[in-house]
Amino acid sequence: DPVKVNKICCIGAGYVGGPTCAVIAVKCPHIIVTIVDLNEMRINAWNSPDYKLPIYEPGLEAVVREARGRNLFFSTDVDKAIEEADLIFVSVNTPTKKSGVGAGSAADLNYVERATRRIATVANSSKIVVEKSTVPCRTAESMRTILEANSKPNCRFDILSNPEFLAEGTAISDLYNPDRVLIGSLQTPEGKAASDALVSVYANWVPTERILTVGLWSSELSKLAANAMLAQRISSINALSAICEATGANIDEVAHAIGFDSRVGPKFLKASVGFGGSCFQKDILNLVYLSESCHLPEVAAYWRQVVEMNEYQKRRFSKRVVDTLFNTITDKRIAVLGFAFKADTGDTRESAAITLIRDFQSERALINIYDPQVVHSQIWTDLQEASPQVPLDAIKKQVTICSSALEACKDAEAVVIATEWKEFLDIDWEAVYENMNKPAFVFDGRLLVDAEKLRKIGFKVTTIGRPT
Ligand code: NAD
Ligand code: UGA
Repeated sequence: DPVKVNKICCIGAGYVGGPTCAVIAVKCPHIIVTIVDLNEMRINAWNSPDYKLPIYEPGLEAVVREARGRNLFFSTDVDKAIEEADLIFVSVNTPTKKSGVGAGSAADLNYVERATRRIATVANSSKIVVEKSTVPCRTAESMRTILEANSKPNCRFDILSNPEFLAEGTAISDLYNPDRVLIGSLQTPEGKAASDALVSVYANWVPTERILTVGLWSSELSKLAANAMLAQRISSINALSAICEATGANIDEVAHAIGFDSRVGPKFLKASVGFGGSCFQKDILNLVYLSESCHLPEVAAYWRQVVEMNEYQKRRFSKRVVDTLFNTITDKRIAVLGFAFKADTGDTRESAAITLIRDFQSERALINIYDPQVVHSQIWTDLQEASPQVPLDAIKKQVTICSSALEACKDAEAVVIATEWKEFLDIDWEAVYENMNKPAFVFDGRLLVDAEKLRKIGFKVTTIGRPT
């Protein structure tokens, strides 16, 4: 008989666990979904009466409002949720290791292992354990070994891999209409039965032809590969943007022309100041580490170059700012518009803005920052982490966080657009110009604003992928 899923537990109430399992709850009112986390502040925010949720994501509040208290619960009682569930998502963080073997590239699997051991200790009945976190190939095997070595009699554990492909800023629509759902399992009768159980959960709203079932290792590797190939597209277009700046070609026109080929397609070809986000760099480095572990140095070098090109793109952009401002920005005020790694999120992990601001700081510029969503304490934390040798007091003397774009641009020599927030299109640019020192420069790191319109106002505009 197919296993029926009545209760789901999700370990990890972050950017993935929260939205993913909230959508499952909305789409499957017959399933009780409990999302747990060790971080009490996060859980309190998920439970807050006025829906001040811990992450900003368009459409998320409506989803939580619909299901919370009905069949969706948030709790710090990890053990109880594990005990009661038939199916457990492990959706904890898997950052790049900072020390020890593989530091700087391998994934830190400590959180996954701790969650797995907790499941083994607490479970009194059989469970399907689903690896939702992005993990190196064969992590499911380690999870299975840990679970089997610690299980009680009559407890079976089936391990599935079900990587998540949502992008921040569009998480809810990605979850409602996914391009595909990927489920990896052992190709044994038990493994396939567990896979069928998870298929039946998604089949409540995802067309079955979009639910792909594959082997465990293929599923794990597909997630790393998908992110690596997406990031590779951005590094390719950014590499071409450098050629455009040197030759007079226009990167938007080049991208448009390339994207018209149906084999390439038009999406994800936007040149930028560099990709950010918690996953692209981490997952590519993971693939690099995997390649090295498999004694494939040429493969490792190939993928590493995608990350190096991204670093180059950020460096190139800060240098262009300094070069254009007559080779010095010391004591000049630079307004940085946008701090999040992309629009429609408050997430700043690996945001290109952090690197740019650090570069401006080391040139001894004064920096004004405005972002419509990022909380101020997060900005200070990120800037402190980026310059650990500089005391926070000193950083605060150089950097000011502003509450509007207009305020940030006051008395500035240059405006740098670091995130493609739509509201930057509607800024009163005439007023910005009035309030700035002249010549007033704009550096568009996101191909966002209409450069000609700004030039008519009087700005000197520099755009990624166009000659100065
Ligand atoms: P996150 O840091 O926002 O959330 C992880 C949560 O897990 C944290 O709140 C943490 O407190 C909790 N946690 C850690 N160990 C725990 C334990 N033992 N018990 C209970 N809770 C525990 O991370 P995220 O962005 O949600 O990413 C989670 C995973 O999903 C990562 O592997 C990531 O690579 C992957 N992923 C992320 C995205 C994304 O857009 N952020 C998209 C696809 C996949
Ligand atoms: C990315 C993938 O798109 C998701 O499929 C995946 O699930 C997720 O990583 C993950 O594993 O974490 P995310 O990082 O949230 O999602 O956002 P993206 O839209 O992919 O943007 C990543 C970065 O690339 C951003 O800084 C964005 O501004 C930049 N980007 C994106 C460009 O510079 N140009 C583009 O054309 C597209």
